[in-house]
Parts: sequence; structure tokens; C-alpha cells
Amino acid sequence: MAEKIETLLKASRVIEPTEKTKAQAYIKDYEKEYQRSIADPEKFWDEIARELEWFSPWTKVLEWNYPWAKWFLGATCNISYNCLDRHVKSWRKNKVAVIWVGEKGEERIFTYAELSRQVNRCANALKALGLEKGDRVTIYLPKIPEQIVAMLACARIGLIHSVVYSGFSAPALESRIKDAESRLMITADVGYDRGKSTNLKKVVDDAVANCPTIEKTIVVRREQPGVALSASKEIDWNEWLEGQSTTCEAVALDAETPLYFLYTSGTTGKPKGVVHVHGGYMVGTYITTKYVFDLKDEDVFFCVADPGWVTGHSYIVYGPLLNGATILTAEGKPDYPNPGRWWDLIARYGVSIFYTTPTAIRLLMKYGEDWPKKYDLSTLRILGSVGEPINPEAWEWFHRVTGGDKPIMDTWWQTETGMILVTPLPCVPLKPGSATRPFLGIEADVVDREGNSIEKGGGFAVIKKPWPSMMRTIYKDPDRYLSYWNNIPGCYTAGDVCHKDEDGYFWFMGRADDVLKVAGNRISTAEVESALVSHAAVVEAAAIGKPHKTAGEMIKAFVILAQGQQDSHELIKSLKDHVLKELGKIAVPREIEVVTSLPKTRSGKIMRRVLKAKELGQDPGDISTLEE
Ligand code: WT7
Repeated sequence: MAEKIETLLKASRVIEPTEKTKAQAYIKDYEKEYQRSIADPEKFWDEIARELEWFSPWTKVLEWNYPWAKWFLGATCNISYNCLDRHVKSWRKNKVAVIWVGEKGEERIFTYAELSRQVNRCANALKALGLEKGDRVTIYLPKIPEQIVAMLACARIGLIHSVVYSGFSAPALESRIKDAESRLMITADVGYDRGKSTNLKKVVDDAVANCPTIEKTIVVRREQPGVALSASKEIDWNEWLEGQSTTCEAVALDAETPLYFLYTSGTTGKPKGVVHVHGGYMVGTYITTKYVFDLKDEDVFFCVADPGWVTGHSYIVYGPLLNGATILTAEGKPDYPNPGRWWDLIARYGVSIFYTTPTAIRLLMKYGEDWPKKYDLSTLRILGSVGEPINPEAWEWFHRVTGGDKPIMDTWWQTETGMILVTPLPCVPLKPGSATRPFLGIEADVVDREGNSIEKGGGFAVIKKPWPSMMRTIYKDPDRYLSYWNNIPGCYTAGDVCHKDEDGYFWFMGRADDVLKVAGNRISTAEVESALVSHAAVVEAAAIGKPHKTAGEMIKAFVILAQGQQDSHELIKSLKDHVLKELGKIAVPREIEVVTSLPKTRSGKIMRRVLKAKELGQDPGDISTLEE
């Protein structure tokens, strides 16, 4: 690791912002603004919050009882009001809010007024079902506009949405519904993936069968003839909205009212329900979208994420709409029907801000530069990357094929942080592979295990002060929330290993714990292991991450078989199918190796570190705790 970082740093070049980029940027002098913001963060956040609309003001910006934070005390607001009404009553009323392109090439366009009407009808329909403030709604939809409408409709009347990525399998969905105790499910008949349809309704049927809290299931029917619905419990989306009024007042909510739960993987097999709230989350996503991407009214903002993940929550839905932006969102993969898919969309809609992932860039790299060359990409102005470290080769390729003069914002953050925390702003000199410096108002640092700041060198990424869009807790599991703040004294530990260079630039190196990043998706080794062990042929399993050319990391699993079981091609396939069924496609190990023992500590903990070192032919480090 140390060697790798040294070569990275040596290879790095510094790219100064162009005069044009600087001239048009909101923030022109990062150092000055950063120093000012952290000299008095509460004053900084207070000023930013005033750019949005509140139904009643706060009496105090922050109440900090380590590690519990409350922001904008006593204030009332509604994030949906700020995403919609604030624009509908302005000249932006007929501005395009959302351009959606389906996998089959269909296009749907919503102005702010139209999006607002749809959201209001949906909110009224939610009320008509008797749902009340604080109730949970699970949204399991493909990337279609109804996903956005449903999220904003919940927010509007104080319901808590729990969006589950539509690639998760029935058991994974079931455990998320059960944890949230949702009363309502919103889904679709099918999603599309590289031309094939996936039966989402079947997944929901299997999951909901074991979830007695679900009273009704709303189904968006995309296929003809429509899938059959059970009269007592299932309602067609269009029929549900039919006749509902297009006005529905946004409820004034205390700033600390939960907005959503989003489940993410940790180091145990049980996903955690990260809780975000209306007020602070609204302020954090609003200002990061504005400053990091230098978002202006003329821009077309294309973020390739799925709202099933936090990037979609913060930078497709909430952040851009809070700014009154025009967003482009497209269903499907970057190389379907061909590797020109995204470049074509950029050219077709005049995209100016393009926010993507290292995995997608590496995938497109494989198809060569001729693809981007075919399209007019001259409207691009600002680029972004998120989800995992971007290797300098991918950075340079992305930079080159998009014209060689557009700054790339390598944004580091997490589901738990709600907003981007370490990132360049367009005015900041860039180093390919580095997320550069903390965002305004954020005191990020690299420290040793005791919490001592490391001026230059490697350590753990931490945040030293609370920020408005931080998670407030882990639903039903406050101890897990506390563990983020108890790890290293006095700060929030992100779980990432990071290197700080002589200019104070952050170089994120990956996770310090048993969390994997496979194609940017967060998967815990424990989840994969427990899925494997639930197969009758497996008694023990250990999963590790291995470097992979496009996905960044891939999963390799080691399994000990039950007595009488034989290693065979069929068995391995059945294990993979089993993980697919239990968790979903993203968690299926690419390699599974049958072993007769696993390295363990004396207390019986599997030493994945040792397995990994052996697999990669590296030195395992300190193995004094190893039993055998
Ligand atoms: C983890 C959080 C952030 C939204 C999408 C993922 C890794 C994220 C970067 C980056 C290096 C990154 C970290 C982090 N990560 N962005 N720019 N450079 N690593 O959210 O699923 O909650 O994952 O993703 O390891 O801890 P998430």
C-alpha cells in the first residue's frame, strides 16, 4: 500500500483551473473561503441555510451533545417545498426539472410545475390510504420518474421513505422492509437491464409475503398487457393517482424530522438504516451541489447514479432540485445498446455537468476512445466522480476524451455523511487520483489510531466537527451510530484509509474494515459469508476483496464444505446462484475456492487479512494472533 501511494504521488501532476472556469465559479478563492468557513462553522451554515425557505426560523444553529447533533433548532421546513414550490412560484415554474430517458429510448420531460402536480397527486393518494406523519414507505422501483415523484410525495407530508435498490433480491428487500416496518410498498412490474426485463413484482411478492406490516402495494405497470393485481392489496399506480387533486400543501415539519432511511452495509451481516432529516440534509445537499458542480440555471446536470443509492438521493433528486436545476436521468447501463450511450445523451441534451463513477469510466475505457470521439461533447463544463478511488489512468482518460480542459471533481463522501465532504471545487488545482481538500465548513483530517493529526502520510480519514447533513442515528440501533464516534477519540471515523500529501491533499485508499467496494457498491464480507453459510453444502465461509480491472474490487470467497459434499463445477454454480437469490447480483462472488480450513484468531475470528495477503502473494503482516 505504502509503495503504491508513493508511486502515485510521484506520478501526479497538478492541473490548474482555467481562467474561464475560475471566472464563472461561485467560489474563486478556496483557501480564503475555507479558512473563513471553519473559523466559525455555525455562522457559515447559518448563512447558507438562509438561501433556502423555512416556515419558521431557528433559535440556534447547532446543539452538539457529543456525538448527537441537532441542527436548526426550533425551525420548521419541508425539503419537498424547497425542491418544488420555491421554484413553481418563481420564473422557474415552466423550466425543465427532469429529463428522463428510458432504456428503450423513451423520453419523458417534467417541468417544475408538472413535477409538482405529480408529487401533489401522489401525496394526496398517500394520505387517502391513511398514511400518517412518521410512517415508512418502501420504494422498490427501477430508475423511472415515479421513483422521484414518490420520494418527494413522502417528504411532502412527513412520511419516511426507504428506497431499496431494485437489484436487491427478495430476502434483502424483506429484511429492509421488516427493519423499517413499512406500511406501504411502491414498486413496478419490471425493470430493464441490457434489453432484458427483470420481474420486480415477483421479488416484491416474495418479500411482502413475509412482511405483515405492508398494507398495500402500489404497482407501476410498464408492460402490456398489465400484470395481474390482487384486488384487495394491490393498486395500479395510475389508478391510484386518478382523480387526486394536483394541490397538496407541504407540511411544516420540525427541521429534525426524519426524511428517509437508507440501508447500507457495515461490517456485520445486518445492513444499517441510516437516518437523514429534513433540515440539515437539505442545507448540505443544496450547497454542495451548487458549489462543487458550480451549478447554474443554464446547466443540464447528468448524474448516472440510481436513486436506490445515496448518490441518487443527494445528487439526482434533492441537491439538484433544491437548486432549481435541470437534471437528466437515464435508465440502463453505459454500454447498452452500445458504448456510445452516455456520450450520445450528453450530445443530445447538451449536458454541461456529468457526474459518474470510476467503474463506469474504466468500463468505457475498454471500448476505446473512438466512442466518445463520435459525439459532440463541447457542452460539458464540469465533471464528477464518486464511489471509490479513481485511479490516475482512468482520471486522465476521462479528462482527455471530454476535451482535456474540464475539471474533474473527485468527490469523497458516504451514505452516512449525506453530502460530499472532501472534494475539489472548480477553482482548486487538481491532482489526478486525489479528492483534494475538505468542502467548506468541514473539518476533515487524517489521523492515527489515537486521533493525532498526521501532517503528511497515511492514516484514518476522520471528521472533527458535526455537519448539517450527517446521519442522525442508525434506525433502531443507536449503538451502531455511537461506534462511528467512539472509534477514534473526538471524531467521526469514516472507515477509510487515507494519505495526506505535503499540500494537505487527501488521497483515499479504500476501506480500513471488512467492507468491500465492488463496482462502487458497498458490500460487507459478513453479508456474503452469511449468505454462503445459509447454503446446505457450506459450513464456513470467508470473503475478501481482490483488485479487479474495471470493478475496482471483486469478491473472492473461501468455503469449507459440509461432510459428504464434493467440490465441483455444479456446486460452485449452485453457491453463486444461492448468493444471487439471497442478496442480489452485486454480491455474487466472482471466484469461490473450496478449502479445508480458514485462518483464525485464538478467539475464532476469521483473519481475512491473512487470506487476502496469501491470495495476492503479499506479506500478511502481524500474525501473532493467528491460531494455526
Ligand atoms: C465509501 C462510501 C459517496 C456516495 C457513493 C458511495 C468510498 C466514495 C470516494 C472517492 C475514494 C470513495 C469510500 C467511502 N468512496 N467516494 N471519491 N474516493 N473512495 O457511498 O456506498 O456509502 O460508500 O465509498 O470508501 O467510505 P457508500
